[in-house]
Amino acid sequence: MSSLNAAVTESKLILTCGPGGVGKTTTAAALGVAAARAGRRTVVVTVDPARRLADALGLGDDAAADEPHRVPGVTKRTTDGELWALMLDAEQTFDRLVRDQSSTKKQADAVLNNPVYQAISGSLSGAQEYMAIERLHQLHASGEWDLVIVDTPPSRHAIDLLEAPDRLVGFLGHPVYRALTAGQRAFAKITDTAASMFLWAVKRLAGPQIVEDTIGFFRSLANIEGGLRKRAKEVSALLRDENTAFIVVSSPRSEAVGEAEHLLDALHDKKFPFAGLVVNLIHPMPEPLTDDDAKVLLELDDGPLADHVDWHVELTNLAVAERAELVDLEALAGDVPVIELPLLDVDIHDVPGLIDLSARLV
Ligand SMILES: Nc1ncnc2c1ncn2[C@@H]1O[C@H](COP(=O)(O)OP(=O)(O)OP(=O)(O)O)[C@@H](O)[C@H]1O
Ligand SMILES: [Mg+2]
Repeated sequence: MSSLNAAVTESKLILTCGPGGVGKTTTAAALGVAAARAGRRTVVVTVDPARRLADALGLGDDAAADEPHRVPGVTKRTTDGELWALMLDAEQTFDRLVRDQSSTKKQADAVLNNPVYQAISGSLSGAQEYMAIERLHQLHASGEWDLVIVDTPPSRHAIDLLEAPDRLVGFLGHPVYRALTAGQRAFAKITDTAASMFLWAVKRLAGPQIVEDTIGFFRSLANIEGGLRKRAKEVSALLRDENTAFIVVSSPRSEAVGEAEHLLDALHDKKFPFAGLVVNLIHPMPEPLTDDDAKVLLELDDGPLADHVDWHVELTNLAVAERAELVDLEALAGDVPVIELPLLDVDIHDVPGLIDLSARLV
């Protein structure tokens, strides 16, 4: 019987990742419940949880949802485990990163108050993914938690998450960025480069003020560039730490399975510690009919019982097809635990629902 017990009781960081809509947020919360009930002080960083789940985690309506909140009803008073949750706020996390990496408040304010920064900090390509990892780093570094669990954003591609730290560093090395942050004189000399084309285009589209702000933004960012690079490196190393566990969540739908396979390959190639596969939303396999029963039942006249038998056959076919879809993915998972979670007929939106799910995971 496979179980994620080791990941929940031994890791210091867990990331749930996978294709869109397969249950990453739900799984992250359920793993948090399992860890807290195993006696660990746990915090779960959720990204955009469904409304009712956010309420259950004590995060509804709260403007300070970006800070950890204790989730009630998870552990009994006699155990030391605790579950805390917060909702990722990419912009606030980015602001915190800028402040951490600036040597003075003035330097930080130059970035934070720049209109270009304000316009793009929430929407930079890959920013959501990067900020989820950055938040993980902030919480891990605080030393307050036995376990930090990070749910990941619904990305266009699950693999975006893995590339986020490199993408930030890649952006800092981009010729346009390099040219914009070069000194005024060097900048004036650049005539035929990508940067001047870029500026020309921006000027035409958006007017000169935007250009000034953009240059100002990149220049202010240059002050903290060293810090950002260093942090991206630390984050990359943290993700590959032996106490980090990547849990991949998928559903049996063919597009999701394809994307999950791609993600497993990438985890392997980039040497991220893959620690478990959760196949969620799977149809349970109905009890098989005995041959004799089947013969009798399949020859029934029309009526409620015959409908029931048809339904049994359909459900069996579906369950068989789903398992066939999963063969390659489960083989690719190798010897890590693989957990199948059934498609439940109730939405999981409260602590008892999460406790039930957590028991299936560990
Ligand atoms: N095993 C299950 N049975 C029934 N409903 C489930 C199950 N797992 C998750 N759900 C429901 O499916 C919906 C999507 O789940 P969730 O938000 O966890 O997915 P996600 O992967 O985080 O999605 P996104 O990519 O949009 O962030 C939620 O309403 C959740 O309650
Ligand atoms: Mg989610």
